[in-house]
Amino acid sequence: MKKRDFLSISDLSMGEISTLFERARAFKKGNITKSLEGKSVVLIFEKASTRTRLSFEVGISALGGHPVILSTETSQMGRGEPIKDTARILSGYCDGIVLRTYEHFRIEELAQWASVPVINALTDLLHPCQVLSDCFTLQEQLGSIKGKKIAWIGDGNNMANSWIDAAGLFGFELMLACPKGYDPDNELLKKALKKGSSIKIVRDAKLAAKDAIAINTDVWASMGWEAEKEVRKKAFANFQVDQNLMKLASSNAVFMHCLPAYRGLEVSDDVLEGKQSIVWEQAKNRLYVQEAILEFLIGKKG
Ligand code: CP
Ligand code: NVA
Repeated sequence: MKKRDFLSISDLSMGEISTLFERARAFKKGNITKSLEGKSVVLIFEKASTRTRLSFEVGISALGGHPVILSTETSQMGRGEPIKDTARILSGYCDGIVLRTYEHFRIEELAQWASVPVINALTDLLHPCQVLSDCFTLQEQLGSIKGKKIAWIGDGNNMANSWIDAAGLFGFELMLACPKGYDPDNELLKKALKKGSSIKIVRDAKLAAKDAIAINTDVWASMGWEAEKEVRKKAFANFQVDQNLMKLASSNAVFMHCLPAYRGLEVSDDVLEGKQSIVWEQAKNRLYVQEAILEFLIGKKG
């Protein structure tokens, strides 16, 4: 059977996602199965991570597998060994590879040359594990999200791009408020619109927030863009999620953030800590949804 990778949400069908969510719900209830017994999964983080790295490491262990951390600085990857060579070497020792990296082509190349499943733990372009898990959390909180309005406020970054990917599959309406010059990936957007997804980009955060069931934001300067921090602070000045913005959303709306968050920049402290915030549940659910992904791609079949 051909190996499967998880590089973007659109690598999965809605039927597969429903099955994954069922498994994630079972894992969350404590019904864990040892489906990775005897299997090793290598984790490579070329950017910083707290949640993703820990939830993968803990999740692999909980499923009976063995997580192996490979640091780029102390491995030959940091000295320039080609990805296509690394991919074939790792495939000889391990049953799956989890990678967080910069340019998206790096993970595509890894997946092309690896004979074991590759999971995207974030690239400059996408953050599929986070957004898939966020859709799980939203459904858990509010029930079906089909036809509902979800707002994205701020940078058209990897998170925004993965929400665009998810919109068509889950059938929600996505409105993104981004300052001019900080739009999501145009190719990805065009593809999603062609498939009939309901996605709109606006310049006014209030317009996006109005009647939404979820208000989402993320840092203004993602990893790799730190040098632009000050310029971005000015460009994003009207894009902070605060109580006034939350008031425009639907009365039972939730506030979402993948974290880490910068209080006083993209979100006010009272919103992040407020009763509409579901950020801690979002972080917790990463574990269960990723366990389901690991089981699906790498676990023993049958
Ligand atoms: N949300 C998220 O991916 O967090 P980390 O960068 O800590 O992994
Ligand atoms: N957009 C952020 C997400 C961090 C989890 C970044 O790429 O830094």
